[in-house]
Amino acid sequence: MRFQDKGVIVTGAGSGIGRQTCFEFAREGAVVAASDIDVAMAQRTADEITQEGGKAHAFAVDVTDPKSVTDCVEEAAQVLGRLDVLVCSAGIREIVPVLELSHEEWSRVINVNITGVFLCSQAFGRHLVAAGKPGAIVNLASTLGVVASPNRAAYTASKHAVVGLTKEMAMEFGEKDIRVNAVGRGVIRTPLTERYFQDAEYADKIRSVHAMNRWGEPPEIAKAILFLASDDASFCTGTTLIVDGGWTAGKTL
Ligand SMILES: NC(=O)c1ccc[n+]([C@@H]2O[C@H](COP(=O)([O-])OP(=O)(O)OC[C@H]3O[C@@H](n4cnc5c(N)ncnc54)[C@H](O)[C@@H]3O)[C@@H](O)[C@H]2O)c1
Repeated sequence: MRFQDKGVIVTGAGSGIGRQTCFEFAREGAVVAASDIDVAMAQRTADEITQEGGKAHAFAVDVTDPKSVTDCVEEAAQVLGRLDVLVCSAGIREIVPVLELSHEEWSRVINVNITGVFLCSQAFGRHLVAAGKPGAIVNLASTLGVVASPNRAAYTASKHAVVGLTKEMAMEFGEKDIRVNAVGRGVIRTPLTERYFQDAEYADKIRSVHAMNRWGEPPEIAKAILFLASDDASFCTGTTLIVDGGWTAGKTL
């Protein structure tokens, strides 16, 4: 078991990738802090992990609020007994043309997707440095951290920023033995993307942009996250691992 007794915080743990990632860590022996703004959903994740014999606790966190983030990290450290890994999966997105995007909507997406990653990583990094411990951070970027797609200006900007912040923190934390990486994903069927799949024509289009002619499922991303958090990736830092079924590999004529 790669994470036996290790302390792992996952944000956005109530749904989608964050939720799946909690299960994968728990199955590898970790003690998981499932954190989400929707604490009832985080509690559901923690309860189901406990029912299947794993170890997990639920925490409320708003990743845009510095105090909420610091409280979550310190409480998780106490309850879990140690902290080794942070996964920043909390995220939202808009689907609005840039000419119609309100300042409010722009700010909402930027605050959760990039300020949230900054605040969580900073609090986690401060904790590890004060404790003199190594660790690993994995941020959820996107294929839209390396290419763009119409009607997602704030989302695309925020995910490009996640790729940049990941490199920046890797530089600053490298000598402290804290690795920082990101995962950039193709379309994965989760509550965030569920509305795409309600339209059969659009679902077909999604399938066709991936070289593998299918979309991804949450465990395929969670396993990449675990790799980057594990000792198997001991010399990986500052990288964004693209797990996208070949979406960004090229374009069809
Ligand atoms: N699903 C995809 O196809 C896809 C593709 C590329 C990148 N991503 C990224 O992966 C991450 C997870 O996406 P998902 O598909 O699991 O989404 P999801 O909507 O299923 O889950 C996101 C979770 O984040 C939580 N959250 C939202 N705002 C929060 C806040 N302020 N504080 C704490 N928690 C908050 C939500 O309550 C929810 O539980 C996101 O960062 C997303 O941008 C998803």
